[in-house]
Amino acid sequence: MIQENKVLSARFGTPDSCSIETYRRDGGYQTYVETLRSRQPDDIIDEVKRSGLRGRGGAGVSPGMTWSFVPKQTDKPKYLCVNGDESEPGTFKDRQILEFDPHALLEGVGISCFAFGASTCYVYLRCEFAEGIRAVQKAIKEAYEAGFFGKDIAGTGFDLDCYLHIGAGAYICGEETSLLNSIEGVRPYPRNKPPFPAVEGLWGCPTVINNVETITNIPHILKNGAEWHAKLGHADDPGVRLWCVSGHVNKPGVYEFETGFKLQDLIDGPCGGMRDGRKLKAVIPGGSSSKVLLPDEVARVTMDTPGIRALGSSLGSAGIMVFDDRTCMVDAILNLMKFYAHESCGQCTPCREGTPWVVKILQRFVDGRGRPQDMELLLDIAANMEGRTVCALADGACWPLTSIVQKFRHEFEAMIPSAKTSSGRTATAAPTGAA
Ligand SMILES: Cc1cc2nc3c(=O)[nH]c(=O)nc-3n(C[C@H](O)[C@H](O)[C@H](O)COP(=O)(O)O)c2cc1C
Ligand code: SF4
Repeated sequence: MIQENKVLSARFGTPDSCSIETYRRDGGYQTYVETLRSRQPDDIIDEVKRSGLRGRGGAGVSPGMTWSFVPKQTDKPKYLCVNGDESEPGTFKDRQILEFDPHALLEGVGISCFAFGASTCYVYLRCEFAEGIRAVQKAIKEAYEAGFFGKDIAGTGFDLDCYLHIGAGAYICGEETSLLNSIEGVRPYPRNKPPFPAVEGLWGCPTVINNVETITNIPHILKNGAEWHAKLGHADDPGVRLWCVSGHVNKPGVYEFETGFKLQDLIDGPCGGMRDGRKLKAVIPGGSSSKVLLPDEVARVTMDTPGIRALGSSLGSAGIMVFDDRTCMVDAILNLMKFYAHESCGQCTPCREGTPWVVKILQRFVDGRGRPQDMELLLDIAANMEGRTVCALADGACWPLTSIVQKFRHEFEAMIPSAKTSSGRTATAAPTGAA
């Protein structure tokens, strides 16, 4: 039995949930003020580390760990950048926080900046998030007016400025160092690491980049304690997450569950089962940059980092894409690869050349002109992209591609016109979307 545990989404249904009045009425900003008045920065970092929280932007790094890499003795200003560039296919959870509970994010901003000594925060949102931009802009103004941002916050001597930065809507700007270049106003090519942003980030100063959902978790951890958080869900990857479910289920949407549930239970229970009573064919479980799972894997996988890694995939940004038996997987991966080819920034040759080349080959299959050698060619191109580029966009493109080529080889073979296939049978081109 799977049950929602609404921590981050608890206020989503509250009337006027974005206003500071309703947020404060519900106890908002109390944890921030108490933390500033009674706790030491190192003690906060330790609490967040002990909570077991992993970053919710995709890589799953402990924010407490990232904060502890920020140098303490430095004359340079320190920055927090909140990553709200959300645009991974299948991922639409940060948007909910921005549109329905922006003050919860800002309270997290205040506590996080105090913890590692940041004096300025940039909340980076993509321009398409019109509602979110309006809500966050208003919330920042209200927080300044209430004295939660600005000088000498709550009489503690802590100063903090917070600005909204609106990006032009490129997927690559969600990559943390690309995001920094975007804020600096230069071409948003991802940067080589090291140096890591915690040491040398915005304008060469120590900078932490954290996801919207990660930061929104912080007030809850400080309020309820690390032990409370560590007991939610799976012991090695604890907490609640906003899971985005899309595709061929009866009730797609954003659900909040503790980690550790069975994926099959989510599909059969809260998601209302498969649409039109169809059979499950596949699930991409962690946003488009994760490896595909087959029905027997979906039936046994638990949604936590150890559980999903055991099947060679990843939780990424928690975007669960469900495909039914009418889906042509070649067409599905073509669609995704068009996205990666379009969004590649073009800085590295393997990604710039590899992603459109893959699109060309996949298009050949979908047009019924696939060649027997093309499956190996796709895997070879992926092998020459993965791990050989400045940022992880190329890796993220390879993971769904290689797993779909390997697990749905028969669908590719069926699109090779009248060719002798590896399974020894003679294939004829199948129409796209054939059951
Ligand atoms: C191509 C690409 C796009 C990304 N887009 C996002 C994004 O939209 N939002 C996000 O939080 N992280 C995104 N990331 C991950 C960030 O680089 C970074 O790991 C994250 O913001 C760190 O926050 P967290 O530790 O709180 O998860 C992206 C990474 C890559 C490679
Ligand atoms: S991997 Fe692709 S998106 Fe990332 S820096 Fe290289 S070319 Fe740009």
